Amino acid sequence: MATHPDTVTDWRVFATDHHLTHVALAGDAAVVTWSDHRTTPFQRFFLRDNCTCATCYLPLTREQLFEVTDAPADLAFASAQIAPEGDLVIGWSDGHVSRYAPGWLRSVAPDAASRAERHAARPRPSIWGGDHGGALPAFACAAIMADDRVLWQWLGAISTTGLTLVTEVPVSNHALLAPIARISHLRETNFGRVFDVRSKPQADSAAYTSVNLPPHTDLPTRELQPGVQFLHCLVNDAVGGESVFVDGFAIAEALRAEHPADFATLTTTPMAFWNRDDRTDYRWSAPAIALDAQGDVAEVRFANFLRGPIDAPAAAMAAIYAALRRFQAMTRNPRFFIERRLAPGDMWAFDNRRVLHARREFDPASGARHLQGAYVDRDEILSRWRVLARELGETV
Ligand code: OGA
Ligand code: ZN
Ligand code: ZN
Repeated sequence: MATHPDTVTDWRVFATDHHLTHVALAGDAAVVTWSDHRTTPFQRFFLRDNCTCATCYLPLTREQLFEVTDAPADLAFASAQIAPEGDLVIGWSDGHVSRYAPGWLRSVAPDAASRAERHAARPRPSIWGGDHGGALPAFACAAIMADDRVLWQWLGAISTTGLTLVTEVPVSNHALLAPIARISHLRETNFGRVFDVRSKPQADSAAYTSVNLPPHTDLPTRELQPGVQFLHCLVNDAVGGESVFVDGFAIAEALRAEHPADFATLTTTPMAFWNRDDRTDYRWSAPAIALDAQGDVAEVRFANFLRGPIDAPAAAMAAIYAALRRFQAMTRNPRFFIERRLAPGDMWAFDNRRVLHARREFDPASGARHLQGAYVDRDEILSRWRVLARELGETV
């Protein structure tokens, strides 16, 4: 396997089993042929845009200096050849010269076969249902603190499974901050850097009472919902208050397969979410299920206790309520949820833009209950995971 560590643009290693056998110029594109007979047309501006020579690129910051509009509109290929060591070398009509390693070219090749291959190889969340209980990834806090590989595995599990349990977190005020500090900085909110979940007389959220909290994501009232939520149990002596989790991606995929009209409604109808007190007034509207540009489910946004009236044409209400009722019924279906009781020292860490969490009603007169929570955005989890992979020698 030929590998090309691209020390200029990145820490990634671009490995490919295929080398370039031929290049031909065809109008707007340089068409390369690979040793597996695949052909890839690279459009002239795409190649010019990705030149990493010292004039076009700043190695210090690994960022581009060149702007594609700096090239003349009639920029043309002057020459194209495969160099003896295998790189593609392009001479341009304005005298500039660019070179490209085959591993890098293969990793960005825009032909249909290469794109389909990359799409199939993309990391996908592993979705789960009510039978997932036994397979819940669990990590000991001390191992996360001491071992970078365990930290890396924990972050990987948060990204793929979306729900993890950390055990033996010290039972003391703000002890959740130590494992979180191994990752990154917090996403602070109006509920504090760390929020205390207990029944309060002047509650500014249903969370701070003892009522049943149906399956929800936290802060759907914000343009960007917090990415990962950490919930650490300090005291759980009250009767009730069990934790329930639902993989929102599993529900979304089941809707897509089994009730496509409801899926279409929930991916296109903005739902309003509000939370206000005497100091703040947060509102955001967005569909309960968000898709990315490929049509994959990217995010679930839902908290019934924060929902405002639906703003939609009268004629659409019946279909919207049918879809909403279906979605809510699925969150209550044992096919989809798992239920657990937190013990002091346990900490849930879960993707708050995917996994809905719930709390059963508890009886505050029967005993104390106190959790502490905090958030870290998804970007921080992924960035830390990639840097750890670099340090651990993992190719990702
Ligand atoms: C919350 C919440 C869970 C619990 O505070 O948003 O979901 O178990 N709490 O109290
Ligand atoms: Zn250049
Ligand atoms: Zn919550």
